[in-house]
Amino acid sequence: MSLRKRDTWGSRFAIIMAVAGSAIGLGNFLRFPAKVTTNGGGAFMIPYFISLFLLGIPLMWIEWTLGRFGGGFEHGTAPGIFHSLRRKNRFIKYFGVIGIFGPLVIFIYYTYIESWTLAYSIFALMGKYASLADQASMQSFLHGFQGLERNQFFNGLGWAYLFFVLTFSVNIWVIYHGIRGGIEKLCKWAMPVLFIFGLVLLLRVITLGAPDPAKPSWNINNGFGFLWNPDLRALLSAKVWIEAAGQMFFTLSVGIGVILTYASYLSKGDDVVLSGLSAASTNEVAEVILGGSIVIPAAFVFFGPADIQAIAHSGVFNLSFVTMPLVLNKLPLATLLGFAWFFLLFLAGITSSVSLAQPAIAFLEDEFNITRKRAVTIFAFISFLLCQASIFFLKNGVVDELDFWGGTFFIVLFATIETILFAWVFGMENAWDEIHRGADLKIPAAYKFIIKYITPLFLLLILCAWFWQEWLPIILMKNVSAADKPFILGTRLGLFLIMLLLGILVKLAWKRKKRKAVQTI
Ligand code: ALA
Repeated sequence: MSLRKRDTWGSRFAIIMAVAGSAIGLGNFLRFPAKVTTNGGGAFMIPYFISLFLLGIPLMWIEWTLGRFGGGFEHGTAPGIFHSLRRKNRFIKYFGVIGIFGPLVIFIYYTYIESWTLAYSIFALMGKYASLADQASMQSFLHGFQGLERNQFFNGLGWAYLFFVLTFSVNIWVIYHGIRGGIEKLCKWAMPVLFIFGLVLLLRVITLGAPDPAKPSWNINNGFGFLWNPDLRALLSAKVWIEAAGQMFFTLSVGIGVILTYASYLSKGDDVVLSGLSAASTNEVAEVILGGSIVIPAAFVFFGPADIQAIAHSGVFNLSFVTMPLVLNKLPLATLLGFAWFFLLFLAGITSSVSLAQPAIAFLEDEFNITRKRAVTIFAFISFLLCQASIFFLKNGVVDELDFWGGTFFIVLFATIETILFAWVFGMENAWDEIHRGADLKIPAAYKFIIKYITPLFLLLILCAWFWQEWLPIILMKNVSAADKPFILGTRLGLFLIMLLLGILVKLAWKRKKRKAVQTI
């Protein structure tokens, strides 16, 4: 046991805000509305809510419980937490490598995208894109900023790099101040501000009416109808179910490893049932009510039913950085609304990215017994270098590739492993007792069956469907251009090396612990 005292949360409100902050991110405001529109409108909500009850909420409880359990043994990341479940097994800890790898990989590109939102919130205040009135010029502004082309707006990556360094530094500054002094303080003010900005934008959107008298059907009611009218035929497509489940993981931040780490700073008797449920519910309000009511209905009112299909399919970056500023430019107080929109995204982003950094730092602190300041310095140095790939090779598809592995595939795999270890290796009776330790609420008994059988089966089904539908073309890079293939291969090699290095670090950490234990005897 180390003499170093582990950090703790200041209050129950603090950890709920921190987990909600991790969950509420760009996924709520950009990914969710795009997924609903392109996957059967309101019909998407059927697999979405089934996924919430069969995957999202069980995984929330599993991760909160596992995290608190491992924290009791001074382990804040998956290798140590899994090892605590079955100490005699020498291999179980290696499954936990994914719980450090996944968040690190997401951090590498997420922070860069987050820096765009900070840049655009300042650009909104500066009026830098205020004169742009059509998709083509706003797109060109975005591409210039991202360094994809040189044009009249930008002459290289200078602005993007400046805002990246700024965003990265703020992230590091927050985590340098620890759980209570940094992350908790940030989330306690950022989350309420985010909700206030979200409500302001929501109110603005629902009072839009029909701005073009020549097109009275382009009104806000039909905008909501466009997003929510169900196309029940979509339910016959396996893809729609997979997309709904994928959205659930991404939005709740489950299967990544970050909630394990946050929960490891709880005390043994702290409730996890009600707290986990509160964090999940806060995320769902932000997603379904705020996320579902801003971008798409607003874009419908200004661009109409024909263009909006193309807009919704054009991806989350175009929705947020092209369509939304165009919409806001057409309204009174465009400067302030533009700032509110992008700063809301920035707050959503930063409260998620600090959580993505935390597992790697907790791993260094807990398993190598080094100080937080040193752990943060090592993390800052390595992750800064890794982020360069996202900045300079964005045009070659590196961010998409990182998102596929870190933000999609390994999330489902890790969630499957966690559930099996929790319900089957730790054992459902132990698991049930552990969940309810200090609980303020009793979970309905049906969840014992759901966690043991339904959640793992559902997860295995998703993995199998994936292998069936997408595995081969992805491995063979069927949709990658010849010019980008070396970059994608390089990214895969890099990811493999990171995973290998983390595996070696786990081995070294346990060897070190063993040596220390022998010395103390
Ligand atoms: N849960 C975070 C989001 O929705 C990662 O963006």
